[in-house]
Amino acid sequence: MVIHDPVEDSQHHRRVIACNDPTAANQKTFAQYEQEGWQRNAPTYDTIDLPTTRQAVPSILNALGNLQGLHLLELASGTGYLAQQAVAQGATVTGIDFSSKMVSLAQQRIPSGATFLVGDAANLPFEANQFDAAVCSFGFTHFAESQTVLQATARVLKPGGTLAFTIWPEPDPNNNFFGLIKQVCRTHATMDVDLPPAPSSRALADPTIRKTMLTQAGFKEISTQTLDLQWPLQGPKTMVEFILKGSVRTHMLYERQTREIQAKIQEALVAATMPYIQAGQESIPCPALLVTASLNPL
Ligand SMILES: C[S@@+](CC[C@H](N)C(=O)[O-])C[C@H]1O[C@@H](n2cnc3c(N)ncnc32)[C@H](O)[C@@H]1O
Repeated sequence: MVIHDPVEDSQHHRRVIACNDPTAANQKTFAQYEQEGWQRNAPTYDTIDLPTTRQAVPSILNALGNLQGLHLLELASGTGYLAQQAVAQGATVTGIDFSSKMVSLAQQRIPSGATFLVGDAANLPFEANQFDAAVCSFGFTHFAESQTVLQATARVLKPGGTLAFTIWPEPDPNNNFFGLIKQVCRTHATMDVDLPPAPSSRALADPTIRKTMLTQAGFKEISTQTLDLQWPLQGPKTMVEFILKGSVRTHMLYERQTREIQAKIQEALVAATMPYIQAGQESIPCPALLVTASLNPL
């Protein structure tokens, strides 16, 4: 287990020490913070995050081919937008998400054709060989145990079943939306704060680690595609709003800063956003990776 936050892995060692300190023994786990964070963000998810994540949905569904009659598992189903599109194309969807608030929003969005359960993607409550395909839109960065999730998914997929998922590329060499946020945090935030031990958010973004993880879970025919997503600008405080109401990992770091540092971070985020606004742009580039992989047919 390593420590990671959205800013920089080079800070791991200091935080490993902090988190192994016995005084930190009663600290909540990364998974608990994640769950609480998504409960907190659920009411604002569709205005802050979904305008970006929804752009990946057509590509994720295209990767599965014809959806008519397919039984699709969706991991980290959020507010149900992807499931709604899949149902419209003829699939039956079972979504699982560990935020009960996300699950109720998804249930409200799709009254029929999809079932949503509150549960952990690492511990899927399904019989083996149930699903034709599985999808996960921007969930893997948030799982405490990605390898366990991959193995659990492989168990419940039918032979030959496909998994398609999206993640953010890390590091982002072009300093796009998340790159700018990291740069601001790296410059202004105190990194030596008491963050819970967490998996690296970079693991599946690294081609070698990705191949190893997917292969160990039984997946083959791994392919990757870059999706040119854009983060829509909703004024100078777009990135500030994302940290406050749309993020979990970055929020964990932000809320551990002093008020003075928080103010500096906010100011720097606005300054980083202004050139896009002044140039008349409506969004900041925010590329994503779409990964598809399949199990061996029988
Ligand atoms: C960034 S949101 C993505 C939501 C949606 N898939 C989308 O693309 O808009 C991450 C989601 O993962 C869920 N999540 C995180 N860890 C989870 C876990 N271990 N099991 C199930 N859901 C999880 C959160 O509750 C949240 O709804």
